[in-house]
Amino acid sequence: MKEPQSALAALLRTAVTAAFGAEHAGVDPMVRRSERADYQADLAMGLAKTLRQSPRQVAAAVVAAADFGSLCDRVEIAGPGFINFTLKTSALEQGVAALAADERLGVPRPASVDRVVIDYSSPNVAKEMHVGHVRTTIIGDALARVLEFIGHEVIRQNHIGDWGTPFGMLIEHLLDLGGGETRGHSSLGELNEFYRAARVKFDADPEFADRARQRVVLLQAGDTRTLELWRKLVAISELHFFSIYEKLGVTLSPADIRGESSYNSMLAETAAELERLGLAKINDGALCVFAPGFVNREGEPLPLIVRKQDGGFGYAATDLAALRYRTQTLHGTRLLYVVGAPQAQHFAMVFAVGELAGWLKPPVRAEHVAFGAVLGADKKMLKTRAGDTVRLVSLLDEAVERAEAELVRREPNGDPAVRRALAPQIGIGAIKYADLSNDRIKDYVFDWDRMLAAEGRTGPYLQYAHARIHSIFRKAAEGGIVRGGAGAIVVVEPAERALALELLGFGRAVTDAAETLHPHRLCGYLYDLAVAFSAFFEACPVLRAPDEPTRDSRLALCGLTARALARGLDLLGIQAPERM
Ligand code: ARG
Repeated sequence: MKEPQSALAALLRTAVTAAFGAEHAGVDPMVRRSERADYQADLAMGLAKTLRQSPRQVAAAVVAAADFGSLCDRVEIAGPGFINFTLKTSALEQGVAALAADERLGVPRPASVDRVVIDYSSPNVAKEMHVGHVRTTIIGDALARVLEFIGHEVIRQNHIGDWGTPFGMLIEHLLDLGGGETRGHSSLGELNEFYRAARVKFDADPEFADRARQRVVLLQAGDTRTLELWRKLVAISELHFFSIYEKLGVTLSPADIRGESSYNSMLAETAAELERLGLAKINDGALCVFAPGFVNREGEPLPLIVRKQDGGFGYAATDLAALRYRTQTLHGTRLLYVVGAPQAQHFAMVFAVGELAGWLKPPVRAEHVAFGAVLGADKKMLKTRAGDTVRLVSLLDEAVERAEAELVRREPNGDPAVRRALAPQIGIGAIKYADLSNDRIKDYVFDWDRMLAAEGRTGPYLQYAHARIHSIFRKAAEGGIVRGGAGAIVVVEPAERALALELLGFGRAVTDAAETLHPHRLCGYLYDLAVAFSAFFEACPVLRAPDEPTRDSRLALCGLTARALARGLDLLGIQAPERM
């Protein structure tokens, strides 16, 4: 049997066609969970406008045109034209039973499998990752996990900034420090200092600046010694990136790195192809593509610069080569770029040029998965008290420390080893949930107390809900109760009904997050599920249920909830400990 909400939607679509003709077959039935009944459909209002009829009339015609009898006990038209559905309890019970038997918890397989190329994290070499990088890493990783679980093929691309003019000064600075011969600057915390010092010298010392420029030429010409030094810088940075990835628990591996440097050999031919296609023209000495529709503030055509006046290739050229590579070589069908909102125009232009060049054509699509900034309490970019950008390492370490302090506060005599194991799961989970639960396109305020709170829309709250269910299971086991008996799930109490309905929404929540690329929808769903569980647990004793079949049924509901929470958190990259 189909999950009831989808089944209702399908029935409604058929009914609309029957009542008003096939031209309305594509209408969105707008079915959602409802306070007044189990589900409600809001399609009548929109249809009424197109049909120039009253919404209630439209609703009545739709209801009359389909047989909801196998699925629903009651179908009612309410208010301006809402259609309210109350499921047959047997349909609900069958739905939950099917869910319990399904490894995938009701997540449907995709109609067609995408080859998703997802560009995320993508920090810059010789610069420390800062809090701005946390968003792309966390959001990108959650999306990669969700898409993979659904059954798409996911290719991660860590487009690290490992090429370009800054490397001239960085290499020269490395040499000045004698770092060419020694282990170099392997102390990760010094990366920012290293970059800053190189920059200061570059600005103050013309002789150094000159050497730096020559070094860029050597680098681009593939000089062996220069490449060796460059590789040293990249290696130090990668150590730093992966120490962060490990703390964060993200799925990026060294094999996912395909940095800007890897496109170096493709830049000239990418430019040549754009020229051959008649798309790129020399303008003021630079090779540019003017894509229709892009203008600057003065209303003049805005170029995407493929090759600069000095013959060098920049960020845009690299992204054009990467787009070409991702479509023509990797054969991606859905390209995702998880990059901050300020780069929206850059990607719009790169995609437009890709379309003009024929690299990007339907059904292949490219999407900029944009996100807003992380703000401090003062609603400005998050800064340290001293006014510096917050280093990601210190942020993550602080999260773990705070989580551990909270565990001490709650249980001063608890086992320190247990605490040490739990603290990273809670602290990092809190950061991730706080980041993911906000609509990504908006800025959000970073607030330790709020994200670590045991109540409300937080990582710890969801983790507690999950751990609490496992504590019920432990008590059951102590009492010799065997879970997972043959008994069926029976839905009697309103709180059981509400929980069962919530559980049935799991597949939809996951699919929805993947289609819209909005992880906050899955976050919201998991919170609603935890709240429904909590209400159920309060109203319906589990181990002290009135009789054995009821107890087993409730235990089965608990089991299903624990699975949904653990799976959902895992898709967000958040751990779900069984004890807290
Ligand atoms: N390294 C860039 C930055 O830190 C992000 C790169 C994003 N990906 C891309 N294909 N442009 O801003």
